[in-house]
Parts: sequence; C-alpha cells; structure tokens
Amino acid sequence: MTITTCIFDAYGTLFDVSAAARQAAEEPGRDALKARWADLSQHWRAKQLQYTWLRAVTGDHTDFWQVTQDGLDWALEATSLDGDDDLRQRLLDLYWELEAYPEVPKMLDTLKSAGFKTGILSNGAPEMLAGAVQSAGIDDVLDHVLSVESVGIFKPHARVYDLVRDAFGVEKPSVLFVSSNGWDAGCAAAYGFRTAWVNRSDEPIDRLPGRPDHVLTDLTTIPDLAQS
Ligand code: LAC
Repeated sequence: MTITTCIFDAYGTLFDVSAAARQAAEEPGRDALKARWADLSQHWRAKQLQYTWLRAVTGDHTDFWQVTQDGLDWALEATSLDGDDDLRQRLLDLYWELEAYPEVPKMLDTLKSAGFKTGILSNGAPEMLAGAVQSAGIDDVLDHVLSVESVGIFKPHARVYDLVRDAFGVEKPSVLFVSSNGWDAGCAAAYGFRTAWVNRSDEPIDRLPGRPDHVLTDLTTIPDLAQS
C-alpha cells in the first residue's frame, strides 16, 4: 500500500531531549551541572519514560508535563544537583522550548511539497507540544499534532496509535511512523504501521515482538523513504 501519511514521535525524534541540560550547562555559574549534564539528561529521560509505562500499566494516568518534572526531580537527586530551585526551573523552561534537530524543518517542508499528510503523535501534553512546535517554527508543515491526552493513556497503548486513524482517516499500512525511541518504533510496527527507527546513537535494537521496517541515523532520508 502506498504511504500517504508520515507521523512523527516528538520527544527525542523531532526535538532533542538532551538540549535542555546541555544548554543550561553552557550558562555562567553552572559549574556543577557542566560536569554532570550528560548523566542528568540520561537519568531524566530514562525516569520520565519509565514513569509513563508504569502509569499506563497501573492505570494511574497523569500528563507528560508531570512525569517530566517527576523524572527531573529523580535525576537531580541521583546526580546530587537537587536543592537548586533556579536550576530546576531553568531546565523545565528549556524543556518547554526544546531545540528541533537541524534537519527537521526542511524534511517536513519536502514532505508537504510532495503531497504527504504530516503529523505528530506524542506522549506530550498539548500545551508542551504547542510550545515546542512553535519555537521550532514547524506549525505550518504539520496537519495534526496529536497528544495522548485525548485518550488518557501513554504509548505504546494501541488506543494512542488509533488516534492517527481517527484524525487522518487512513489505513495502518499507508502510515509511515517515525520514532527515535526503539520501543515506540517496535510497538508501532506490531500495531501495523510502516515504521522507521531513527537510531542516532547506534543502540542495539529492542527485543520486542515488532521490528521497524527501516533503521536510519537521522531524518534526512524520510521523504525518499516515504516515496519509495
Ligand atoms: C513522545 C515520547 C515518547 O514524544 O518521547 O511520545
């Protein structure tokens, strides 16, 4: 079946989740963070995601902004950076306006010019997604920004992937779903989407029932892939 619709995960895929800690570490007076920002960032992301999965299993949903703060608090304590309220707030402010990866605007422009429908499907709360999409300047090249908040459960629950069908009215095999999260790409493949996993840091593939159709190092070749 021909691909008509390209759907992107947001955090880690279009937006660089390590940018908040990296940028804050470059600011004056952040010596402790300078030495530990990479560890902080890794713990922050890992805990944020674990909390989404645990809350999906236990049925104790809260929004992604809350788990982002909970993950950050765990990570700040784990790296002995807790107790600095100014640093905590700065990291959250930077997360709200995360940098997009450099190839994102052109890649989305190319897809739109070629006639594809485009969208985001993310755990992110709608306000967070709006903040990141606006600061990246990509609102004009997205048909829909879909948030799990409309179904009240995090990825990889099938109800989340169903949002694409509901919004775009498309069959699963005409969707190319793109994620840098191996588990998200694997679960979307098992759900029935065509999938591309953007493996920027050369990680091993996740051992899950679904496997991505394509493994890429960045997003530049997505338009070619969608047309092939
Ligand atoms: C998202 C998470 C998985 O954007 O990063 O859905």
